[in-house]
This record gives sequence, structure tokens and C-alpha cells, in this order.
Amino acid sequence: MFVSQSRLPHVLEPNSYHCPEQFERELSRLFQPAWHLVACLDNLSRDGDFVTLELMGKPLIVRNFSGQIHGFLNVCPHRHCLLTHEKQGTSTGFRCQYHGWEFAASGKATKIPDARSFKPMPGGPESLCKFDVQVRGPFVFLSLKDRPEPIERLWPTLMDVCDEFPAHRWKLADCWDYEFSANWKVVVENTVESYHVPAVHPRTLVRFGDESEIEHVIRDDATIMRSPIASPRAYRQIADQLLKWLEPGCKHRYQLYHGFPNLFFMRIDAMLQAMTVVPVSPVSCRMIVYVFTLRARRENLVSRLITWQWGRFKAAIIKKVLAEDARLYPDLQRGMESSPFAGTISTREELVHAFQQYVLRRTVRSH
Ligand code: FES
Ligand SMILES: [Fe+2]
Repeated sequence: MFVSQSRLPHVLEPNSYHCPEQFERELSRLFQPAWHLVACLDNLSRDGDFVTLELMGKPLIVRNFSGQIHGFLNVCPHRHCLLTHEKQGTSTGFRCQYHGWEFAASGKATKIPDARSFKPMPGGPESLCKFDVQVRGPFVFLSLKDRPEPIERLWPTLMDVCDEFPAHRWKLADCWDYEFSANWKVVVENTVESYHVPAVHPRTLVRFGDESEIEHVIRDDATIMRSPIASPRAYRQIADQLLKWLEPGCKHRYQLYHGFPNLFFMRIDAMLQAMTVVPVSPVSCRMIVYVFTLRARRENLVSRLITWQWGRFKAAIIKKVLAEDARLYPDLQRGMESSPFAGTISTREELVHAFQQYVLRRTVRSH
């Protein structure tokens, strides 16, 4: 059932999707206090594994130190070089690429080549800037704030969901990212509504339920959509044969969780998709996608093969669907920049309205 019984106003003006002042307010009020999905454990499974990324204009590095995950600004305190420019890798020591300073998990410099030439070093060797990191389920989250609010207080709904995804049951099938020429909210809003599916994905996405079958939940920190999916009979037959190995009793029910402002979990058919939309400028953003498939409770050769193949199959479909959405983003953005309309939102799109309400609450000028 939908929450609202009648159509809703488009809460945000088209101007909010390109105005630099609104963008700055969103960065400081929505994104600075937030936690950010920065990696998954499969990216960082061995001692020395690391990933680097850009978040809110900051270069970051997240690394496994003997099983513990730590996150830092990817900038050396010596002469400001990035420690590494590699997107992902493994290193035996945590070392800066320029002059070879080495650092501990605390961020403190532990080895400085020709250290005597720096004497005296008041207060001892310098340290990297360190950020708080939290591992939940198969995911690694990082906060850019000094003393961040606990992640479960900020995202109670999403953290409860994370706890349903124990890391050892989920295998990363693929992970990739996109740059879009559109405001980040354009991409978020497209992700939470199914109204565009028949027009934009007539062949790749199957039919969502009607109102009596769809469940919408609206909370302060998140929205949830649950719907049965009507898929072609051939898909259903193959899926039922394969998925009994991984997820016996699989119901083919689609579940979409949106944690405000920019985190998504989609769960269906032994597959978990996590996505995050990162603002880059008022008119551009980046989307990062992780696709996982379920491992059998008792794994064997056959179940491992199915987990792997199912992951490849699902990731290929998701790439097709996201490419169909991506074609629209520049046109949506161009329209936002010239629209004389107030806009309107249907009950089927009410999760867009809930998200807009959240943005408005947090960014109104007098806030
Ligand atoms: S800039 Fe990093 S060691 Fe010199
Ligand atoms: Fe879509």
C-alpha cells in the first residue's frame, strides 16, 4: 500500500538541482555529518589490502592492518604527496610513494629515511589525518567528522538491515562506478521510484506489483519499498533451479532501502546490490555500485559455481539497467535548469517526496 492517498507537491524547486548555494548547504548539512560507504570487506580481505577514493573533495585511503580496517586522508604530512595514486592494491608496508615515509595503523610515522636530517622534530614524528571507520556486514563506512554521531543513531533502519547481511555469506561479484552530468538528487530520485520502469526499461526490468502488492515505508532516516516482481517464466524456472542451492524458499521479492541522503541496498533473488551517489559539483555526481551474491550455508563446488555465475549474470543485467537510466540524466538536468514548472509527484513516486522533504528539512535557509 502507498502511504499517501493523493498526489503530492514537488517539494524542491528546479533551482535546487543546480544552484551552488544549495549545493554547499547540502555538503555541510547532509554529507559532512553523514557516514559514507567507502569499501566492502572483499576489497580489503588480506593484510595490506587498500582502496583509495575521492569523497567530498578529499582523497582517502582505507587499508587492512592485520585484520583491522583503518581510514586516512591520502596525503603525506611530509610534502603533501598522495601516499599512492592506485585505486586498489596490496602493500607490505604503509609507505608514501614520494620519499618512503612509513606509517602505523595509528597514522603515526614509524620510519623516516635519513631521519636525522629532520631534527629536531618537536612533538615527535608527524601523523596522517585519521578518520573513524565502522564495519557493518560486508561494508566499510567512514566518517569525515571529528566526533561523528554513532552510525546506528544516524541510520537505524539501514544498520538493522546491514546486520541481516553477515559478511561471510555474501561474495562480491562486481564493483564499479560512474560519473554522471547531473545533480546527485536527480540520480537518487530516479533510484527510488518505479514509475519510470515501463517507459525506460521495457525489456530489461520486469513488472513491479500494483498498489495492493507494493509496500512503502517512510521513516526519518530512510524509506523502504517492497514489491513482488513479475518476471518471465523462463527466468523464474532457471532461478528456482539455481537458487535452491543458495537461498531455499526464495520469494522473488524486491526490497529497496534508501538511507538518507545517498545510500541504497537492493535485495532480491540471492543478490544484494549496494549503491552510493556522491556529489561532485552542483551539476555532477559519481555513483559507486557493489553487487554481491549469496553463498550457500554449506558451500561445495556446485554452490560456489552458482554463486559466481549468478553474480556475473546479475551484474550484467544491473549494468544494462543503469545504462538505460544514465541516458536520461543529462536531459533531466537540462530540464531542471530551464523548467518554469512547479512539478508534481504521484503516490507511486511518494518516496521521492519523502526524500525531498528530508532535504528541505535539513537545508532550509534559516536552519
Ligand atoms: S611526501 Fe611523503 S615521504 Fe615525502
Ligand atoms: Fe531505472
